[in-house]
Amino acid sequence: MTTKKPLRSQAWFARKDKMGFYYRSWLKNRGFPQDQFDGRPVIGICNTWSELTPCNSHFRTLAEHVRWGILDAGGFPLEFPVMSLGETMLRPTAMLYRNLASMDVEESIRANPLDGVVLMMGCDKTTPALLMGAASVDLPTIGISGGPMLRGFYRGKAIGSGTNTISMSEQLRSGQITLDDFYEAEASMHRSQGHCMTMGTASTMASMVEALGVGMPGNAAIPAVDARRALLAREAGRRIVEMVKQDIALSQILTREAFENAIRVNGGIGGSTNAVVHLIAMARRIGVDLSLDDWDRLGRDVPCLVDLMPSGRFLMEDFFEAGGLPVVLRELAEQGLLHKDAVTVNGRTIWENNKDVECWNREVIHPFDQPFKPNGGIAVLRGNLAPNGAIIKPSAASPHLMNHTGRAVVFESIEDLHGRINDDALDIDETCIMVLKNCGPKGYPGMAEVGNMPLPPKILKKGITDMIRISDARMSGTAYGTVVLHTAPEAATGGPLALVQNRDLITLDVAARSLHLHVEAEELDRRRGAWTPPQVHSERGYVKLYVDHVLQADDGVDFDFLVGKSGSAVPRDNH
Ligand code: FES
Repeated sequence: MTTKKPLRSQAWFARKDKMGFYYRSWLKNRGFPQDQFDGRPVIGICNTWSELTPCNSHFRTLAEHVRWGILDAGGFPLEFPVMSLGETMLRPTAMLYRNLASMDVEESIRANPLDGVVLMMGCDKTTPALLMGAASVDLPTIGISGGPMLRGFYRGKAIGSGTNTISMSEQLRSGQITLDDFYEAEASMHRSQGHCMTMGTASTMASMVEALGVGMPGNAAIPAVDARRALLAREAGRRIVEMVKQDIALSQILTREAFENAIRVNGGIGGSTNAVVHLIAMARRIGVDLSLDDWDRLGRDVPCLVDLMPSGRFLMEDFFEAGGLPVVLRELAEQGLLHKDAVTVNGRTIWENNKDVECWNREVIHPFDQPFKPNGGIAVLRGNLAPNGAIIKPSAASPHLMNHTGRAVVFESIEDLHGRINDDALDIDETCIMVLKNCGPKGYPGMAEVGNMPLPPKILKKGITDMIRISDARMSGTAYGTVVLHTAPEAATGGPLALVQNRDLITLDVAARSLHLHVEAEELDRRRGAWTPPQVHSERGYVKLYVDHVLQADDGVDFDFLVGKSGSAVPRDNH
């Protein structure tokens, strides 16, 4: 078997000394014969299977399809586990551990005799964690998403992960449904393996994998339990062996053009705001200096083409049956909005992969000239309240609130919010602007998905479902509303958000990309002088490392010492 350059795995397996004995013999105990060490590409299957990550619970089976594909092509598959991040279970928030998991991935790949890697990703943070870690090594890499669940179905109606969880919990709080209704819906919503089936963060990131070209065509939307997901996995297994032989490193796929394509596709699908921090962090690992300004510039004119929850009606299974992401890619490319010649992992360009696809349901995927919503991109706001930026997803916001001035109602922490939000004596009405502090990267710590604050029951009872909410937190990709997020610098570091007081006036003007606090600079200086930082409990261990080194939202919430890559050079011997 010939390759362009010596495989790095041969630094382990070609040795004819004591160390070669170690490296080969301990694998022979599993039945791998001598010819497995003859210079064939060794492919790592990086698996985030865990019973604590329900969205990835089928990954043992999916990994077997990858393994067969690798064997088909003459490679040597070796599966290994990495830290798995289950969005629903991990406390205080899975985002606290994204960078930790990325370190696990990076070091596991580099330290082992691998020539290429297939990343098994599904639940929200598993995708950026694995891609960030792999980017810092830069071997030939393919990403495989686990696929979305089938449609949720409850009393004759489709219901979506997260989106209907939020709406039904609001209905429960306002007395519109009973606890028994609530319990029944729990069992009806998540009725198959897979990740959330709305266009939430997991589906957005699976779409980013396909748009970046690091996943196989069709990666975004094939349901987890559809046989075509297994076929995709097998094809990916075959292809990664070829990529190693052709020496196609991840950095040849994850170019600036690829990230620009992904940002535009995020607009086309009305994707999650979480993609902003994840793509910035991934890009800066591989050496692409992506910024918030890129998000605003590239997403500004991209209409949302898909009628999917949380902004619309349908679910990922409908999206798949309508043609899936390839249709969106074709529509955007035809309008000149994609770099058509961006290379993807299957060896073809993004245009070659998608130019001939058809749409089977125009209710689900709209044509470009009749979009579902005129603006699907992420708007980046700046002003004296967010000097380093804040973001809003216009397609999930209420049009009548996009230019609004209101009185601030301030919550100093998530505990403060929970303690007062249900109090009918709270001085608030629907014209007010809710402000939540100390939920950013350092303040929470972990930048939890609490930015879409629940509305006060007395306002819900009026039938009002949206108000402007501003915070330094993130928001679940399955959520919706006029919600300003990722305000930077965050309150816990003394950003202007920390200085907002009850009854201050704030103006949100999305068209002008402005977020303004109507308080004179002298008064803000006076408040800054009196400000004391909140106590963050991080005396030891990983949380201390996190708080000491995490960057702000506009820099992707990575660790300062993880930005960039160390490459794939073979580490020194252990004897
Ligand atoms: Fe895993 Fe939504 S909880 S993707």
